[in-house]
Amino acid sequence: MTEPNGNLELTRRYRFSASHRLDTPALSAEENKRLYGKCNNPYGHGHDYVLDVTVEGPVDATGQVADRRALDALVNEKVLQRLDHKNLSKDVGALNNVVATTENLAGAIRSALAEDWPLQARLARVRISETDRNVFELEVVASRDQAALAPRERLNRIRNVFEREIRK
Ligand code: NI
Repeated sequence: MTEPNGNLELTRRYRFSASHRLDTPALSAEENKRLYGKCNNPYGHGHDYVLDVTVEGPVDATGQVADRRALDALVNEKVLQRLDHKNLSKDVGALNNVVATTENLAGAIRSALAEDWPLQARLARVRISETDRNVFELEVVASRDQAALAPRERLNRIRNVFEREIRK
């Protein structure tokens, strides 16, 4: 019998439901409507999100990459309790200064998990499905370039993209 060598990935799947409204103060009401379409409607709308958290490491003496219960407890405390049945555009501190798109949500989840990561296995990836057709994946890298970006810069970037992509 051979020992498994190298690292393995373990992915655990979680679900939560939340609402959001796509709207940025960097744009006028009319521009927001053009950019985000239906997703800008003032009443918001909800999604049943599917979150996959992937950890990576060697198989330990117990024959596991990571203790599932420890990972579940971590995701529950740092992510699910903060997001489930919340209004992502209003109730979630980590999304206060950004538009609550699922791209930004993925970033917020990655940051929440990466901070003081307690497990031996490395946090490798966060994958979130908003719908069957919208799936976002974020690799976890050492640099925190996105997290370091100031809110003002993010809004300016949105305006730049809007002007480049929408007005042409
Ligand atoms: Ni949506």
